[in-house]
Amino acid sequence: MNTQLEDIVSLAKRRGFIFQGSEVYGGLAGTWDYGPLGVTLKRNIINLWWRIFVESRDDMYGVDAAILMNPKVWQASGHVDTFTDPLVECSECKGRFRADKIDTSKCPTCGKAGTFGEPRQFNMMFKTNVGPVEDENSVAYLRPETAQGIFTNYKNIVDTLYPDLPFGVAQVGKAFRNEISPRDFIFRSREFEQMEIEYFVHPDKWQESFDALLADIHAILESLGLPKDKIHELDVPENDRAHYSKRTIDIEFDFPIGREELLGLAYRTDFDLSNIQRVSGKNIEYTVKGTNEKFIPHVIEPSFGVERMVMAVLSSAYREDEINGEKRIYLALPEHLAPVKYAVSPLLKNKPELVAKAREVYECLKKKHRAVMWDDNGNIGKRYRRQDEIGTPYCVVIDFDSFEDDTVTVRNRDTTQQTRTSITDLLS
Ligand code: GAP
Repeated sequence: MNTQLEDIVSLAKRRGFIFQGSEVYGGLAGTWDYGPLGVTLKRNIINLWWRIFVESRDDMYGVDAAILMNPKVWQASGHVDTFTDPLVECSECKGRFRADKIDTSKCPTCGKAGTFGEPRQFNMMFKTNVGPVEDENSVAYLRPETAQGIFTNYKNIVDTLYPDLPFGVAQVGKAFRNEISPRDFIFRSREFEQMEIEYFVHPDKWQESFDALLADIHAILESLGLPKDKIHELDVPENDRAHYSKRTIDIEFDFPIGREELLGLAYRTDFDLSNIQRVSGKNIEYTVKGTNEKFIPHVIEPSFGVERMVMAVLSSAYREDEINGEKRIYLALPEHLAPVKYAVSPLLKNKPELVAKAREVYECLKKKHRAVMWDDNGNIGKRYRRQDEIGTPYCVVIDFDSFEDDTVTVRNRDTTQQTRTSITDLLS
């Protein structure tokens, strides 16, 4: 189905997934707030990623580094000098744009032609000051990628856990970029989250780890319910690659806004660790256990953007159909990602005996699945529609027959089929 971005944005707001940041004050461009359902969906995605890439493997370690880092990090990494986008300004309306994203022959805001000069490079890092004195010695940056918090801890991990190569270090956390033109809902934001791995390898063996991680990436995208035919690999040509990369494969996805980057897999060589060694003056070499072989490991980096995962999951799950002549919208989320797994209601909310029995079933289901919602608002039809829109796979209704035979109605989100199920089976 040809899902429009507006459909996703509207559902996300209507049902409490994602709101404009600071909306009550008119918003703040490029920032988004996750509501009760959005935060759970996002956590389910992050937790799945962490389970697959970290917990279920013996070669991965987790870290959670500080967002504020010594500014030398960003000098050594090349971000101070090269983390830029080309910026143009309209001499007529003073509008500022990313030169590579617009047709610069005419201003997209005021429509005047020939008002742009030569682009200048705009550094996307947010600057701040650490401590009470605001001068050049107190300058710090909000991290534009989580990766550097991994590189700066590489030696700590080697010295405390003595891992054999190859091994990876993973981190999930916020990143900040002062994007010239944040756009397309959460796709390009100024504050977002990344899930990154730096996988340290012997320099001669980078290719096999690159290929293995590429296969792991495809496996997790399948677990997230993203259709294979919407996923594409782009081998990024040299002149489009980041300054640190010798090879990059971008995984692109057919979003409602078109085919765009979902995540990247980059071969960063020893660029970062060598820079840390050079700028810090500390030896960062790895010694192969039981030998005198020493070298600076090379790095393969799978870098996922959480917001883009959320957007891909939402747009893949969005469905419209017709039930009894009425349009229905639902999210066909994989069960393990759905923020609510079961919604439980009494058929009528003004019948205390029904409510009491429904509460009993609700409490037991909640103990078992946690993500269970009590929903007695409006009539049953309205409850089903609401639960369909938030992607709840099952709605459980307790009615008068439940007293006779200890059964309930379980309604399936995707098929809308209702089946009588014994409470014992439901809770087993
Ligand atoms: N450490 C490597 C790195 O940060 P990147 O290609 O700049 O590489 C990695 O970013 C991923 O982070 C992207 O593939 C995307 O999913 C996400 N990302 C980057 N900028 C973003 C933004 N402004 N808003 C939302 N997600 C973003």
